[in-house]
Amino acid sequence: RKETVSTRYKVVVCRDLGPDVMPLLRGKPELELVVWPEDRACDRRWLLENIHGAAGVIVMLTDKVSGSSLQVVSTMSVGYEHVDVNAVAKRGLKLGYTPDVLTDAVADLSVMLALMAGRNGGIGISVVQKGQWTEYPWAPFGFCGPQLSTTAASPTRKIGFIGFGRIAQATLARLVPFGITHCLYSSNPSSAPSSERDAQLAQKYNLQSVKRVDIDEVARESDVLFILAPGGSGTYHVVNETLLRKMKPTSILVNASRGTLVDSDALAKALREGWIWGAGIDVVEGEPQVSVDHPLVKEPKCVIVPHIASATLETRRDMATRAAQNLIAAILGGQMPAQVDL
Ligand code: DGY
Repeated sequence: RKETVSTRYKVVVCRDLGPDVMPLLRGKPELELVVWPEDRACDRRWLLENIHGAAGVIVMLTDKVSGSSLQVVSTMSVGYEHVDVNAVAKRGLKLGYTPDVLTDAVADLSVMLALMAGRNGGIGISVVQKGQWTEYPWAPFGFCGPQLSTTAASPTRKIGFIGFGRIAQATLARLVPFGITHCLYSSNPSSAPSSERDAQLAQKYNLQSVKRVDIDEVARESDVLFILAPGGSGTYHVVNETLLRKMKPTSILVNASRGTLVDSDALAKALREGWIWGAGIDVVEGEPQVSVDHPLVKEPKCVIVPHIASATLETRRDMATRAAQNLIAAILGGQMPAQVDL
């Protein structure tokens, strides 16, 4: 549908952003909006046809764009691997994204996945849904898995992170009441280590230690390992067979960042052969093309949800608002609330 509010700046919006956010855009007479009319990822052909002459575009993770008249690409996501950043920088475009507003929602879901994977949630739900509960009456050790919280007999819990940015730290904060004792993390080698910040975090959360170590040590030591690092070529398959073989047989792997960080075949093998206990997965390489024959879908100890870490009513509205605000500021002048430093 074409909404000619004004003919000044054509803006392509790859998904209706809902009744709270569309009025922000529609209320700007300087913008001529072209909005993908369907409730599914927009067709590439539609996008390429409509991007001609556009000054700005609001994209989702599912959209790849180019367009010579563009001034701004505003993505409704914190990750921007789907944007050709070099091309955007070379052409002097602005790139907007949506950090911060989704931190809590993603941290919440990361903890949920850790619990689901550790406590055999996927297997348990499937048993009930298939009407098989009678075959699995309560049994002393039925459905048991490793406990996330500490116990008197098991007073140490080490939580590991690959990537230790805002979302990882919000996840750490949520785990404190479980009695975790140690936090280990590996970070992008280009980011400066900060033992002072680590000591402050340890003190704030009453942990025995918060320590930056190499990725092998994170794998070896962690009871739960959260992958919360950006995608892209620098992190491609950092979780591979070699790393998975270093993990404990009772450990849990959670990925709520990008599917490309994990070699799915290696993870399926690790689960099948018991190198690790379970996995909680929000993102899969090649998504959404993940069929019932996918090696991870076939693994009962892999709990998979379809990239929903930020999917709360509140957070998605905030992300859409931020994406609209970024676009409006970039085109009509003013400070973009969240601009990627290219
Ligand atoms: C993002 O914003 O990059 C998240 O993956 C969306 O859920």
